[in-house]
Amino acid sequence: MKSKGKNKIIAIAIFGTLVTGFITMSFIKIQQDDRKPWVVPDASKKVKNPVKSDAESMAAGKTTYNKHCKSCHGTKGMGDGPKSKELKTPCGDFTTKEFQDQTDGEIFYKAKEGREDMPSFKKKITDDEEIWQVVNFVRSLGESKKN
Ligand code: HEC
Repeated sequence: MKSKGKNKIIAIAIFGTLVTGFITMSFIKIQQDDRKPWVVPDASKKVKNPVKSDAESMAAGKTTYNKHCKSCHGTKGMGDGPKSKELKTPCGDFTTKEFQDQTDGEIFYKAKEGREDMPSFKKKITDDEEIWQVVNFVRSLGESKKN
């Protein structure tokens, strides 16, 4: 009898540890990436960047980026701007291959339309050319990490 009771306690202890472990793990997972996949319509995905990626457009894009995007996305696009801490969703990391593998059209669409914590820039940046310049600048952030 005595040892049966002991076994029960051990079993409960093991079970409790497992349950706590699973709960902790799922919380960590949620915190790591709770972003939903962001699907861009095919037509927007295929849109070609009409602005040439040269020093001039990159510099203009950088100015716009610093004014409108840096506060959340950070100086180097790693998603670590001062405002990012106040948001529910992580901002993503522009230096990663996953991000840079997107088309210019996808980046343009996301910047223009926004979603939840990511504001829409339709009204703030009315000239599409300016958004394309930012796309060109954001491309250079991917390259900066490779070096
Ligand atoms: C208030 C904070 C904030 C500002 C300002 C902001 N963003 Fe974002 N951005 C976010 C957040 C949060 C996400 C992630 C949204 C999601 O996945 O639901 C995001 C996502 C993105 C994405 C998609 C990232 C990916 O992984 O595909 C792009 C592109 C982007 N932002 C571009 C910009 C540009 C360009 C600007 C400036 C014109 C800008 N953002 C300004 C918060 C911000």
